[in-house]
Amino acid sequence: MSTQNTHQLTITRPDDWHLHLRDGTALEAVVADTARQFARAIIMPNLKPPVTTTEQALAYRGRILAALTKAGGNADAFTPLMTLYLTDNTSSEEIFRAHESGQVYAVKLYPAGATTNSDAGVTDLLGKCAKALEALEKCGMPLLVHGEVTDPSIDVFDREAIFVDRVMKPLRRAFPALKVVFEHITTKEGAEYVRDAEGPIAATITPQHMLYNRNAIFQGGVRPHWYCLPILKRETHRLALVEAATSGSPRFFLGTDSAPHARGLKEHACGCAGCYTALHAMELYATAFDAVGKLDKLEGFASFHGPDFYGLPRNTGTLTLVRETYQIPDEVPFGNTALVPLAAGETLAWRAAV
Ligand code: DOR
Ligand code: ZN
Repeated sequence: MSTQNTHQLTITRPDDWHLHLRDGTALEAVVADTARQFARAIIMPNLKPPVTTTEQALAYRGRILAALTKAGGNADAFTPLMTLYLTDNTSSEEIFRAHESGQVYAVKLYPAGATTNSDAGVTDLLGKCAKALEALEKCGMPLLVHGEVTDPSIDVFDREAIFVDRVMKPLRRAFPALKVVFEHITTKEGAEYVRDAEGPIAATITPQHMLYNRNAIFQGGVRPHWYCLPILKRETHRLALVEAATSGSPRFFLGTDSAPHARGLKEHACGCAGCYTALHAMELYATAFDAVGKLDKLEGFASFHGPDFYGLPRNTGTLTLVRETYQIPDEVPFGNTALVPLAAGETLAWRAAV
């Protein structure tokens, strides 16, 4: 169901298929932002320590819903879809336990050292994780892939494209029936691989990679709030991602990768990677789709392709976006510090009516 005119767009309620919520006071500060716009979200497991067992995932799920209630949100209207963090030691039993819990929907692969809290990640995917991958393939649970090689000799802007040949293709040759989500793709190579490959593969695309190229990180000085991983790439890649997301292909769907870090840890000598977009996710995506005249493709990307790939029902509610000036706040509270949303202080032409 979709209504489109110049002023307003009503779509089936969307889901966020890639989200960082953190824990404790940080979780309490951000969870209601996501629940305002999305019915469900795939929750990343890169806590400290990471969520590696079903028991930990279920406990974390409880903390998410409690934090949402405490923050004044409606815990009955938001479903956290939990994930496990794959390690060299994840057993096939743990995968089956996760699947049977009915609350864990995917397993996340972080190559060791690739990004925030990835030290416990995988060192040798096919060598160390074959049993876990076999179990995932068997129960039809998707493997979510942070697709960057970690070889320090590879240029940071090339790490995703090289990952496709070095890791993604061998993985999918070895496990052709494994459902794979190539998370937060940032390159033409990533988008074309997902578009053309055989078998069950899809990709999430963030709002920042649709709206900005790497110049944004350096415009007028170093701008740490535009720094995330995988890093923004050059304009040709941004155009390829916009083309993929707005193409109508069911292989591409919404995943914000909203990743909150306190202002002081972003504006730092060694600033953390991550953009905070949960506050205004649908405003950002609507802006990106509108910029290429493809608002009619937003509902598929935001509300249909994700659940279809995961084998889950589509949502029944709706979300309305209104063409109205929306000013992104300079910052929002974050425990006893502050959080700076992506493009803070700028204005967008769309506002979610929530
Ligand atoms: O920019 C990022 N931030 N990329 C990731 O892969 C992790 C995330 C985080 O957890 O902060
Ligand atoms: Zn992420």
